[in-house]
Amino acid sequence: MSTPPRQKRFTPADITALKGNRAIVSLTAYTTPIARLLDAHCDMLLVGDSLGMVLYGLETTVGVTMEMMIAHGQAVMRGANRACIIVDLPFGSYQESKEQAFRNAARLMKETGCDGVKLEGGAEMAETVAFLVARGVPVFGHIGLMPQQVNTSGGYRSKGHSDKEQDKIRADAKAIDEAGAFAMVIEGTVEPLAREITGTVGAATIGIGASPACDGQILVSDDMLGLFDDFKPRFVKHFADLAQVISTAAENYASEVQARNFPGPEHTFQIRPKK
Ligand code: KIV
Repeated sequence: MSTPPRQKRFTPADITALKGNRAIVSLTAYTTPIARLLDAHCDMLLVGDSLGMVLYGLETTVGVTMEMMIAHGQAVMRGANRACIIVDLPFGSYQESKEQAFRNAARLMKETGCDGVKLEGGAEMAETVAFLVARGVPVFGHIGLMPQQVNTSGGYRSKGHSDKEQDKIRADAKAIDEAGAFAMVIEGTVEPLAREITGTVGAATIGIGASPACDGQILVSDDMLGLFDDFKPRFVKHFADLAQVISTAAENYASEVQARNFPGPEHTFQIRPKK
């Protein structure tokens, strides 16, 4: 596959500038063909570490590696030339120190050509975010429900139901904003808090399960395409039913192969007549 010509792409600064003007549209993408299809419709594509669960069948995102993120980041860059492309720093690649975070963020940017990186964490990651931003790495933050912390945070339940939890998420948003994140995902968080944060931070807020009050929205593409008919949490809407489409196509293929109706003459090569 050839690389599309590099046109003017949305930059992280362009994404921040959309705040207050119009809703920001974002989806995850992990492969070249999907990036090609989504690029025209999205301001930002996230090569999310959700790929560990969606593509590789892992239980959580904890097992995702830098090598996986680089391979899929490169694939998405080959398919998109308009949307701002952000690649997730996987679990264990940035939490140890700000130097480790810079090393791995720089590696992601050099080896994929992406426009910035995303990392999960609030106040505890603020120093790291400031360190990266000061050294040329645009950072997309991620607060509220943080899937990389699922083993210590009590699972995938929504956040902000108690005053204590609200105070923490509010402080996390402020810390990441002041550290210079150009945008932040707010995941699985009650609406009033997502609305308040959106109104107080300079960064663009991108909600997933955090209400329409955010500056923009993101979903895992495979979820909104309806690829998993056994997974539909409250915050997901199926905009297509690809699980059904794929299973019907496979069933039709199997019956045509079994009936020897496929391949037909139009799919079959014959020896060319001699000239
Ligand atoms: O990994 C991911 O896909 C994400 C989005 C769901 C925000 O973090």
